Amino acid sequence: MTAEPVETPTTKTRYDAETLASLTADATQIMARYPDPRSGLLPMLHLVQSVDGYVSRDGILFCAEMLGITAAEVSAVATFYTQYKRRPNGTYTVGVCTNTLCAVMGGDAIFDELSDHLGVGHDETTPDGAITLERVECNAACDYAPVVMVNWEFFDNQTPESATALADKLILGEDVVPTRGAASVCSFKQMSRVLAGFPDGRADEGVGAGAPTLAGLSVARERGWTAPEAPAADAADGATGQTSPPVGTPGSSAERTPTTAPDTSVGKDKKSGEDAK
Ligand code: FES
Repeated sequence: MTAEPVETPTTKTRYDAETLASLTADATQIMARYPDPRSGLLPMLHLVQSVDGYVSRDGILFCAEMLGITAAEVSAVATFYTQYKRRPNGTYTVGVCTNTLCAVMGGDAIFDELSDHLGVGHDETTPDGAITLERVECNAACDYAPVVMVNWEFFDNQTPESATALADKLILGEDVVPTRGAASVCSFKQMSRVLAGFPDGRADEGVGAGAPTLAGLSVARERGWTAPEAPAADAADGATGQTSPPVGTPGSSAERTPTTAPDTSVGKDKKSGEDAK
């Protein structure tokens, strides 16, 4: 099937014709995903970062021109979210989780060590342009704390020593292998294109949920625990066929009476009935 030709906008940007045509075609695809094209602004900002390495002045103008909004409106969004960079980003964003669990498990020490080793602070980039160091919030990987992310790929159970060795490899251009997920780490620009909604085909690589994440499920299976049956409801949801009782009514999660032994023995050892030590 031949793609529809996309008209490039009259522009105040300084993109060359080829870059502008490519950006316009991609942005047109993004805008078409939403009932209101303006809803495409967030992925369009990632698209701009995939070309410029940050949200540039030209990128802001491009988004504004495509969406028929002002540059000030685009800037207001771009400056709200920390994933949008206002200065050229390093090839790799090294994000150290310093949220509560990772912090107490060593995340603060990892950040301090990396900061000393690289000579940069939070949201600063090494002079060679290889690494932008960040403190990041919880990545929902607390079971592998402390966690370091490289362009949003997981490096689990890190130490100051392993994190600095990782950073050194990135600087030298050596391959690094994430603990879970994709088998390699791509560049910030490539990752930004994925975040703009253009898959690179690597989403299903590697281990998704590892043993620590599945520990609760394993215990439940060993002990024969199952989720309680959903109560019958008068009408199923038309879209999903599933039923869910209104909050506050019998059978809703807020009102549910425990129905299984483990639910009624929280804090107790199942076999002995004693308080868990
Ligand atoms: S606190 Fe670090 S991943 Fe949750």
